Amino acid sequence: MTWLITGGAGYIGAHVVHAMAEAGERAVVYDDLSTGIAERVPPEVPLVVGSVLDGDRVARTLAEHEVTGVVHLAAKKQVGESMDRPLHYYRENVEGLRVLLEAVTRAGVGAFVFSSSAAVYGTPDVDLVTEETPCAPISPYGETKLAGEWLVRATGRATGMATASLRYFNVAGAARPELADVGVFNLIPMVFERLTRQEPPRVFGDDYPTPDGTCVRDYIHVVDLAEAHVAAARALQSSPGLDLTLNIGRGEGVSVREMIDTINAVTGYDIPPTVTARRPGDAVRVVASADRIATELGWRAKRDLHDMVASAWQGWVHRHPEAAHG
Ligand code: WQD
Repeated sequence: MTWLITGGAGYIGAHVVHAMAEAGERAVVYDDLSTGIAERVPPEVPLVVGSVLDGDRVARTLAEHEVTGVVHLAAKKQVGESMDRPLHYYRENVEGLRVLLEAVTRAGVGAFVFSSSAAVYGTPDVDLVTEETPCAPISPYGETKLAGEWLVRATGRATGMATASLRYFNVAGAARPELADVGVFNLIPMVFERLTRQEPPRVFGDDYPTPDGTCVRDYIHVVDLAEAHVAAARALQSSPGLDLTLNIGRGEGVSVREMIDTINAVTGYDIPPTVTARRPGDAVRVVASADRIATELGWRAKRDLHDMVASAWQGWVHRHPEAAHG
C-alpha cells in the first residue's frame, strides 16, 4: 500500500508519517504548509505542497504516487478561532474533506483514516466517554469534525471503502524535540510559556465538581496516537467495507492541578499556580473509555504522563533555550 497523509507536516501528522515509515509502510505527505513545517517530513518521504480544496492537485497526486490508502489530518484545529471564523472552519474542514473524498473515490482508494476529536462529544456528563456517548459538539470546530465523520462514513457505505474515524483526546508530547508542537494553545505549552517568563501558571477555575476542583482530561502521548493510526490503517487494508469509530485516549483522568504539579517536577521550576476565572465552554471532565480500540485493534497506550511532559519540555527547550535552567 501507499498511504497519502494529508497534514503530514503538522505536529500530529508528522508523528503519523514517522510511525508509518518505521512500520515499513510507504507514505506520501500532502500539506499546504499553512501551519505545517516541511522539515518535519523525513527526507525519504515525498512531500506534495497543496491544499485539499484543490481537487485536481489531489487527483494528480493520487495517480502519480499510486495511492491506495489515505490518512486525513489536514484541518484547522483551534476551538476559539472556530467560534470567530465558523465559515472558514466549515470550508477547510468540511468542504476540504468533501473535495478530497471526491478525488479519493474516483481514484478507487480502498482505505480512509479520518482524524476526529473528542470535541465531537462537547461537554459529556459521564465518567468515561464511550463511542456510544451522544455527540453534542459545542464549537464549530467540533461540529466540523462530527460532520466529517458523517461524510467519511456515508462515502464508505456507498463505495465499499474501509473507513476509520479516530477521536483523539488531549494529545501531548513528542517523539523528539524537532517534532514537538509549536502552538501555545493548550494547557502544557501555556504552562511552559508562563514558567519560562517566571510567571505563575494559571488554573482556569478550581470550583468544579472534581476531587481537587480543577477540570479533568485524558492526555495521550502523540507517539501512542501515531501508533494507533498504523494499527487502524492496517486493519482497514485487510478488511474492505470496515467502518470503525474509535476513541484514542488512555482512560485515565488527569486534573489541571495534577498536570501543573507534574510540569513543575519535570522542568525543575517550582512556581505555584494562580487560580483565575473559569474559561467559558470548558467541560468538567472528558476521559475516554479506550476499551473499543483495544478490542478492535489490540492497541493500548504505552506511555505515561511523565513521558508526555518530559518530551514536550525537551521540544520547548529546543525552541526556547532560555527556559532550560529551571
Ligand atoms: C485543558 C484544561 C483548561 C490552559 C482542546 C479542544 C480539543 C482538542 C484539545 C483539538 C482545561 C485548562 C488550560 C491554562 C488551564 N483540540 N487550562 N490553564 O480544552 O480540553 O481541549 O484542545 O484539536 O478539541 O477543545 O484542552 O489544553 O486547552 O485545556 O487551567 O493555562 O486545562 O481550562 O480545563 P481542552 P486545553
